[in-house]
Amino acid sequence: MSETVFTYAAPALKFGSGASAEIGHDLAVFGARRTLLVTDAGVAATGVPARIAEEIGRSGIEVVLFDGARVEPTDESMLEAIAFARDAGPFDAVVAVGGGSAIDTAKAVNLLTTNPGDLFDYLNAPVGKGLAPTQPLLPLVAVPTTTGTGSESTTICVLDVLSLQVKTGISHPALRPRLAVVDPTLTMTQPAMVTAASGLDILCHALESYTAKWFGDFEAKAPEQRVPYCGSNPIADMWSEKALTLLAGSFREAVRDGGDVRAREQMALAATFAGLGFGNAGVHIPHANAYPIAGRVREYRPDGYPQDAAIVPHGMAVSLTAPEAFRFTFDAAPERHLRAAQLLAPDLPAGDADALPAAIARLMRDVGIPNGLAAVGFGEGDVDDLVEGALKQQRLLATAPKAVTDEDLAAIFGASLEHW
Ligand SMILES: NC(=O)c1ccc[n+]([C@@H]2O[C@H](COP(=O)([O-])OP(=O)(O)OC[C@H]3O[C@@H](n4cnc5c(N)ncnc54)[C@H](O)[C@@H]3O)[C@@H](O)[C@H]2O)c1
Ligand SMILES: [Fe+2]
Repeated sequence: MSETVFTYAAPALKFGSGASAEIGHDLAVFGARRTLLVTDAGVAATGVPARIAEEIGRSGIEVVLFDGARVEPTDESMLEAIAFARDAGPFDAVVAVGGGSAIDTAKAVNLLTTNPGDLFDYLNAPVGKGLAPTQPLLPLVAVPTTTGTGSESTTICVLDVLSLQVKTGISHPALRPRLAVVDPTLTMTQPAMVTAASGLDILCHALESYTAKWFGDFEAKAPEQRVPYCGSNPIADMWSEKALTLLAGSFREAVRDGGDVRAREQMALAATFAGLGFGNAGVHIPHANAYPIAGRVREYRPDGYPQDAAIVPHGMAVSLTAPEAFRFTFDAAPERHLRAAQLLAPDLPAGDADALPAAIARLMRDVGIPNGLAAVGFGEGDVDDLVEGALKQQRLLATAPKAVTDEDLAAIFGASLEHW
């Protein structure tokens, strides 16, 4: 029997310039007295976390600052954060200030300081045991400083398991922040490449959720089987379409001139909208492919990111196979691909299967993203390995609008070595 039900969930949201100055008040409403603030060193250097901690302190709430979240977290970095929090606790609320890296680290810390067991008990199977939390988590206030992941709205945290060279995550509704505080003024200091990479994450969230398998095309689920990601649906569609329009009008400007207040605001809205969309519909092939691309990087070190380790940032990794992934999915839902291309590139003629790949590639080039997998260090000889890694992300591939074989993935990776 086909599914007839879709779901929508989101945290409370406070959006706008100055919103981050009210967190002390918001925490007091939750009854908080002692809170952990999680951030990373790069964000800490902007002075914003210290300012927010001071403001929270003025509401009579004690703040312990942890600025050791790793950019693109690993199992090791999350274990360090959890150990810190277990030592410094107990807390009655958690605040995350940063991009997806800091917010995801805070989600793992929140889970593992309130529930028994270790990280691997909760990681998605088959890497971990995929257990559900048994105890309530603390209220988490998520304050994004990048315009990208939407992690402030979602139920997941993503990490790299170093020993297995695999990216995976924890996914459970209990991880969703209680309150998202989106203050565009905090995003002004993002380096240009962070704006570019995280903006492509927004783009792929919107495009993948918009083209995801329709919720009614899944098998019917029992109530206890429902998952946060239920496929494209009328409500997620609305967020995704609006996110694409906002990106079309502000992405290039925000990368070219980080001080452009209007562009930064529009990007913050786009990230929020896309997060609310994909946080309920799900993502598919480009995100599945991004996991092995990021997990198997050798030497690449982009500007604007910490230089101590090789990294293909999440948004960049997601975009690198996007043009070819959407060429492949075109025939499963042509009208959706054409509409997305039109929203993203209203100046291009309404087209065919090439329209969306062309619009994405043009945007990637305009914001300075490398020209394909070869430019970040992969070659023809890596394709089998990348396919094997992407095939492990069955949870994501199942959301694609059509079945995906290993040959299909090999063709997508192979054609993504160079885009222009
Ligand atoms: N949980 C989710 O729903 C979800 C969704 C997508 C991606 N992710 C994860 O999020 C992570 C990527 O997050 P991201 O793209 O937001 O970037 P990020 O958190 O990794 O930050 C990127 C870099 O920008 C710096 N930075 C961030 N904000 C800044 C600011 N305002 N001023 C100056 N520097 C700033 C950071 O210090 C860091 O060096 C990845 O680990 C990815 O897997 C999670
Ligand atoms: Fe993403």
